[in-house]
Amino acid sequence: MQTLTVELGERSYPILIGSGLARSPEVLARHVPHRDVLLVTNTVVAPLYADALEQALLGGARSADGADGAGSTGGAGSAGGDGRGPMARRVVRVVLPDGEQYKTLATAQRVFDALIANRYGRDALVLALGGGVVGDLAGFVAACYQRGIDFVQMPTTLMAHVDSAVGGKTAVNHPGGKNLIGAFHQPRAVIADIELLRTLPDRELSAGLAEVIKYGLIRDAAFFSWIEQHMDALLVREPTALAHAIGRSCEIKAAIVGRDERESGERALLNLGHTFGHAIESATGYVGWLHGEAVAVGLLIAADLARRLGRVDVALVERLRTLLARARLPVQAPPIGAARALEYMQIDKKVQSRRVRLVLPAGLGDATVCADYPDAVLADTLAAWFGAVPGSTAPSARTAS
Ligand code: NAD
Ligand code: GLY
Repeated sequence: MQTLTVELGERSYPILIGSGLARSPEVLARHVPHRDVLLVTNTVVAPLYADALEQALLGGARSADGADGAGSTGGAGSAGGDGRGPMARRVVRVVLPDGEQYKTLATAQRVFDALIANRYGRDALVLALGGGVVGDLAGFVAACYQRGIDFVQMPTTLMAHVDSAVGGKTAVNHPGGKNLIGAFHQPRAVIADIELLRTLPDRELSAGLAEVIKYGLIRDAAFFSWIEQHMDALLVREPTALAHAIGRSCEIKAAIVGRDERESGERALLNLGHTFGHAIESATGYVGWLHGEAVAVGLLIAADLARRLGRVDVALVERLRTLLARARLPVQAPPIGAARALEYMQIDKKVQSRRVRLVLPAGLGDATVCADYPDAVLADTLAAWFGAVPGSTAPSARTAS
């Protein structure tokens, strides 16, 4: 097992990376010492992993299936006022519907309802078992409930292992845009069990690889080369390769978050490719493109723009294109039109004084935020990637990364 730390003073927390962590009573007793646990998961992940996790949380004691509001109680201890011993643990499971469309306040309300129905107090813990949707929503609930209670991230997608579970960005969507309602609330631990990735669909694995490649591009040329050398092993989920990719990605993210928790500067680099990617996701109505797939094309567009600006050479762009294609990610943008792409980019959170600030590579393993590019170069780049079709639909959705 590898242990990293997100250094945030008294809010510092560990990221544990290894196999079998989710079924280890010892690991769970150490990092989830709370008596009352709300296990938040979804309809896809629950049948795969929730029973084993619950059993491990209860230290091997009996685990009953609990839908919303129902729960499991186990552990040792003499009877207290509520019939449970002082050390007895209570695990209540909330199973949410699957999908980004359920990352809403209405779904969060169900989680609040379960906390309140079970009289969970400020000493309770929310345990998020799932991908980025479950993690973001459960974290948001933990941030708000009784002004903030503990939570632990147990990611089950590669995207969540390398990105969403780390760093404390929590949110739900609003009809007006993605992630518009949220809070910074750091978990007390991230338990990244690589075994949980074995059931992940191939397409979701590739989407997570886009973020892994992003880390190499922004911070670590040697890691980028390592990904090139180990892409085949990653695609067949070779545990050592996965553990290294997750570990190095988390190391890079943890260091950046430790220096800039609230994204006043350096953390924006983690959004390399995302401004272009968000334009793709928004213009296609979040249908047909996974986030990581849109980010993959966004990385390439950012690299191509950087080449046009003389920041990187063509060899870097081609190297990136080859690696993304090997990761089974798309390397062409949808023909949404340059003008429409720009409209969506202009409602990005990084816009300042109506100027789109872009994260652009400055070489392999190096990237900076750039606002002083000539508009004509951006326009040419967008036309080359999205086509010159005039935009017709006004943007209707905003995104906060
Ligand atoms: P997701 O949570 O929707 O999971 C993708 C799909 O895989 C879902 O159908 C899910 O049920 C399924 N799944 C999850 N684990 C599985 C497993 N082990 N086996 C089989 N199926 C499994 O998507 P995601 O890519 O993990 O996360 C995307 C979300 O994360 C978005 O809402 C995005 O805004 C958010 N995000 C947040 C941050 C952050 O810093 N907070 C960073 C990146 C992305
Ligand atoms: N996913 C970008 C960030 O956490 O800042």
